[in-house]
Amino acid sequence: MLSSSYTFIPTFFLLLSLPLLFLLGPRILPPRHVPPIISLPDELDDLSLFRKASAPEPPRPRSSLPSSKSRLGSTNPRPKIAFLFLANSPLHFSPLWQLFFNHSHTPTARLYNIYIHGDPTAQINPPGGVFADRFVPAKRTSRSSPTLISAARRLLATALLDDPANAFFALLSQHCIPLHSFQFVYNTLFDPSSIQLAQLGQFQYPSFIEILSNESTLWDRYNARGRNVMLPEVPFDKFRVGSQFFILTRRHARVVLRDRRLWRKFRLPCLKVESCYPEEHYFPTLLSMEDPNGCTHYTLTRVNWTDSSNGHPHTYRPPEVSPELIYRLRESNLTYSYLFARKFSPDCLQPLLDIADDVRPKQEALGSFFCRDEKDAVGVTTWDEGLEEAIEKMPTTENPKQVQLSRPVLEEQY
Ligand SMILES: *[C@@H]1O[C@H](CO)[C@@H](O)[C@H](O)[C@H]1NC(C)=O
Ligand SMILES: *[C@@H]1O[C@H](CO)[C@@H](O)[C@H](O)[C@H]1NC(C)=O
Ligand SMILES: *[C@@H]1O[C@H](CO)[C@@H](O)[C@H](O)[C@H]1NC(C)=O
Ligand SMILES: *[C@@H]1O[C@H](CO)[C@@H](O)[C@H](O)[C@H]1NC(C)=O
Repeated sequence: MLSSSYTFIPTFFLLLSLPLLFLLGPRILPPRHVPPIISLPDELDDLSLFRKASAPEPPRPRSSLPSSKSRLGSTNPRPKIAFLFLANSPLHFSPLWQLFFNHSHTPTARLYNIYIHGDPTAQINPPGGVFADRFVPAKRTSRSSPTLISAARRLLATALLDDPANAFFALLSQHCIPLHSFQFVYNTLFDPSSIQLAQLGQFQYPSFIEILSNESTLWDRYNARGRNVMLPEVPFDKFRVGSQFFILTRRHARVVLRDRRLWRKFRLPCLKVESCYPEEHYFPTLLSMEDPNGCTHYTLTRVNWTDSSNGHPHTYRPPEVSPELIYRLRESNLTYSYLFARKFSPDCLQPLLDIADDVRPKQEALGSFFCRDEKDAVGVTTWDEGLEEAIEKMPTTENPKQVQLSRPVLEEQY
């Protein structure tokens, strides 16, 4: 009798506490993060933009193109790099990028365009300077959801449509910094030793995108939207992972915008948010299916995953910033030096500006990473007259006489 009432009392309280748990549970336990689903109107909006951007490019009349008279007297625009900033907080490093772009001027032309996708809920003040009026129509983005894929595709589409001279498309975030001068970046992408081969149609510029297949978390990430939902479009052995920060050629940017098949699967909402990073899978998976040999399989944006937490890489803080750090971040075992790096905390701006001073003579400016003359840098030929001339002669759509010939060549090169 006594013993049974002893067991009765705890059982009674246990039963009493069950409904309480249901009532109070949501208040005690942290709320589950529910990523937004892409709405139909947003989806249709994007679809029409992507369709326009990936349509066959018609030859344009001479007058509709921005032209720049070159030193050599021709009016061919040189190929440009489109810098795509995907931002959900202010562009803290804009003064650093201003320096970077300020040194991009050649006697003949501006060789870049900037596009910014700023999350509309983040209230990003326009940084002015080279960033003035460079915001593209944007929609909300959020981690663990396909919204980051959509934002990147929106940037690609806008840049494709905006300037036919955009030949490479570099995706960056507000936490990225440049590790080299603009000239260095330009020479790395438009590898001077390949220009003539490209002109002859014997060489195609690659996309610099990381594509990995043997990461230990891949199976969980594959199933993050539910078991077997990726089939039949994406079998597990075709599923890839890689950094979201890529540099795509024009050809591949159009492949990405034409895709509907894989997108149907990657747009599905994440059920297991902790292993769902759609933007790290969509681009590597798609491009490794479509053109594995046209991609480097590595990225040129350095990141430090040592001691990462909660899916975030190491974030550099001011005391870590030094010329030596910049040199270390550039180092690569691959063909090319790293061009960009992440992630840096906003307060690294001043220390970075301090070492980026290119006014002092080269020997003094140890950390002068925007210095034009980087002959000693890894694997790079410096800009020279011969190269300028070769690029000037590159076929473009600008010259009406060359249109018929150059269109397929341009498409094939980039
Ligand atoms: C970049 O150049 C412009 C004009 O040449 C100048 O007004 C601006 O201050 C420069 N910005 C930086 C960060 O040096
Ligand atoms: C993945 O494969 C590459 C090259 O085959 C190898 O260098 C790397 O160590 C592998 N990574 C893992 C996590 O197995
Ligand atoms: C990477 O981050 C770790 C700390 O997490 C740091 O000790 C290491 O020096 C960093 N590596 C580089 C190359 O910066
Ligand atoms: C290059 O390879 C060496 C030896 O495998 C390794 O210790 C080093 O971390 C690598 N450097 C980079 C930047 O990956």
